[in-house]
Amino acid sequence: MRLLIVGGGGREHALAWKLQQSPRVEEIFCAPGNAGTAELGENIPIPPNDIAGLCRFAKENRIALTVVGPDDPLAAGLVDEFNAENLRVFGPTKSAARLEASKVFAKQIMRSAGVPTAMAGVFDDSRKACRFVEKLHYPVVIKADGLAAGKGVVVAQDPKSACQAVCDMIDHRRFGAAGERVLVEEFLEGWECSLHALVDGDSYQLLGTACDHKRLRDGNEGPNTGGMGAYSPAAGWDSNLEKQYEEKIMRSLLRGLRDEKLRFSGLLFPGLMIKDGVARVLEFNCRFGDPETQVILPRLQGDLLPVLEKTIDGQLEGVKIELDARPAVTVVMASAGYPGKVETGKKISGLAECARMENVHVFHAGTQRSNGNVLTNGGRVLAVTALGDTLGAARELAYSAVAKIDFEGCQYRRDIALTALPLNLGGTDVASRS
Ligand code: AMP
Ligand code: GLY
Repeated sequence: MRLLIVGGGGREHALAWKLQQSPRVEEIFCAPGNAGTAELGENIPIPPNDIAGLCRFAKENRIALTVVGPDDPLAAGLVDEFNAENLRVFGPTKSAARLEASKVFAKQIMRSAGVPTAMAGVFDDSRKACRFVEKLHYPVVIKADGLAAGKGVVVAQDPKSACQAVCDMIDHRRFGAAGERVLVEEFLEGWECSLHALVDGDSYQLLGTACDHKRLRDGNEGPNTGGMGAYSPAAGWDSNLEKQYEEKIMRSLLRGLRDEKLRFSGLLFPGLMIKDGVARVLEFNCRFGDPETQVILPRLQGDLLPVLEKTIDGQLEGVKIELDARPAVTVVMASAGYPGKVETGKKISGLAECARMENVHVFHAGTQRSNGNVLTNGGRVLAVTALGDTLGAARELAYSAVAKIDFEGCQYRRDIALTALPLNLGGTDVASRS
């Protein structure tokens, strides 16, 4: 069968790499893809937000399944349009994707379903919000309601900067319509963890746990990014957290969605904040994570395709997800200037050498092929993943591959998974034990 993968980042390269191993897959198209996906299939120059163009392409090319990577086309209703044309597609509908696309909606559902999360107030009037922030304990978190490319969250240390952030969003439309409404939220402390689960409306299967490193620089310094690296399984994840995740988060959420007459089908990943053994939800994402996908999929055993199909068909119950017990570490290599403006077109060296390394996968993100060379073509350029018998071994191998790769202005964190080393000596997470 022929597959279409929507998107062009490291997540989409990892999805294409995994799905291409399915014996039933004959051909993979990526829209728009990158130099990595071009080696696995054909890149199609259709942007992820051109839903009509993607729909036309899927029909004309008899695409049997479309898998959507990024959040924007899901929020814009890609799945609804594909369904209306009887095209098979993996991902939630527009109304279910509001769990990610509207933080106010997610907060309301969590509140009514009893899912543990930070307390928050919702405002569309900056004067009222500024009066409210006078009374709070600091820091507080100001969040734009809508999608803001990961930039719509501000941690404010005092009422003045909280009010400033609110006015920037509501009055000055710093994030456009995404900031028409804002949440003023309690600041949660602890450690963060991502849980990837496939959800078929009624039931779910955990795909894996991971920890992302969102800040640009070592020691969690510098600005927030899309993610500078990750490791899996998450260190510190235990049966107590697993129980909370099952009972208080996933079951409550699915019940809450049913009460709203909403059916979520696709990949749902909550970002959790954990403190003193108690997990609370920071946010829901309605798609595979980036770079979490690049660290989880190399651990996934067996064929991903039937699992995605069972998710779409509401048949996840009883499906066994098996993960390699070995931990994995992913280091993101980014262009100079990321997460701000970057220069592109720099030649990347060392890829062929890494391709010969065992237990190493180099996933492309912002890359393009030109005259036989691979050039940089975006902020996050590569995600270098390695598996090892211990987290330390996986880390060492990932960094030895990173050391072979070079491009002008390349930046990466040296401390991915470092603080987890004393906590995680083997590979146990929920899915690998079942
Ligand atoms: P979000 O887009 O809601 O996931 O927020 C992006 C990042 O901001 C999260 O991964 C956290 O690091 C941080 N963050 C969001 N909400 C809170 C909160 N209530 N308390 C502390 N940190 C937060
Ligand atoms: N790595 C976080 C995300 O994909 O949203």
